Amino acid sequence: MTQSQKNLVFVPPNVATMGGIPMSTKEFMFFKELIENLIGINLTEQKLTLVQSRLGRRMRELGFDSYKQYIDLLQNDPMGREVTHFINALTTNKTEFFRENAHFDYLKNYLTDMFHHQTCYLWSAACSNGSEVYTLNIICEELKRDYPHFDYRILGSDIDTQMLQKASSGIYHKTELVGLPPLYLSHYFERGLKQHSGTYRFRTDMRHKLKFKNCNLVDDNDNFSFQFDVIFLRNVLIYFSKDTITKVIEKMWRHLKPNGILFIGHSENLHGLSHRFEAVGSSVYRAKK
Ligand SMILES: C[S@@+](CC[C@H](N)C(=O)[O-])C[C@H]1O[C@@H](n2cnc3c(N)ncnc32)[C@H](O)[C@@H]1O
Repeated sequence: MTQSQKNLVFVPPNVATMGGIPMSTKEFMFFKELIENLIGINLTEQKLTLVQSRLGRRMRELGFDSYKQYIDLLQNDPMGREVTHFINALTTNKTEFFRENAHFDYLKNYLTDMFHHQTCYLWSAACSNGSEVYTLNIICEELKRDYPHFDYRILGSDIDTQMLQKASSGIYHKTELVGLPPLYLSHYFERGLKQHSGTYRFRTDMRHKLKFKNCNLVDDNDNFSFQFDVIFLRNVLIYFSKDTITKVIEKMWRHLKPNGILFIGHSENLHGLSHRFEAVGSSVYRAKK
């Protein structure tokens, strides 16, 4: 036995497959095209290892040892059950409470100026695990204390069904609450006890103005019966091609009221849709209608 073979004896069985089963370019191209057609995510070839590891995890759950088996399953999936798992596996869900905090300062001023006596409709259009939605909920509740006639409704949507489930539960581990001011933690969250110790749940009596919905940003069939005053569309455009960004931004414009406000991530841009929007702050745009 060579030295390297001896060393291998002590490697735990899962370590050898940690990066996933090696994926051919043809297999990668199949997954790349499928995810782009389904939800607009544009995977560059640098993402091959990431795709390998994320799909590898799903294939282990299914007991598969080749991408051919997985591709066959996706191609013969009339109910779309595996497609849902496939999408959930390939989305990136990084988020946090009060992320890019300057946007919430801007929102507070905007709401104070515009909405003391009206209902404001807000949409977090790629809400991941709900941190952004509950941040908006806190901002609106705080405003309501000062302006009791102010009212609001918040829609949180995402394509990832697992994230939406978590968002609807409103339950977070303390490590997911970094960024949340302690005062808000004690006012808006209940601490989990016994087996739930270490987790916090957003107070149920504080979330009756929230709704969550499974929505695909690249799908044109959303049938909202109203338009929004405020849309948060942050840190999702980075995953799309230029053409998809244009299409999604057009759609946001259609869903905004005249002078409605769109927030995008600080590293994102509107790709030439300046005839639709006017910049009014850092990564904040007003719909021209
Ligand atoms: C990085 S997270 C951003 C979360 C939050 N907006 C923020 O800034 O913290 C991106 C989210 O976009 C969602 N997403 C990606 N493509 C989508 C699509 N076509 N339709 C709806 N949501 C999508 C992902 O599932 C993911 O949860």
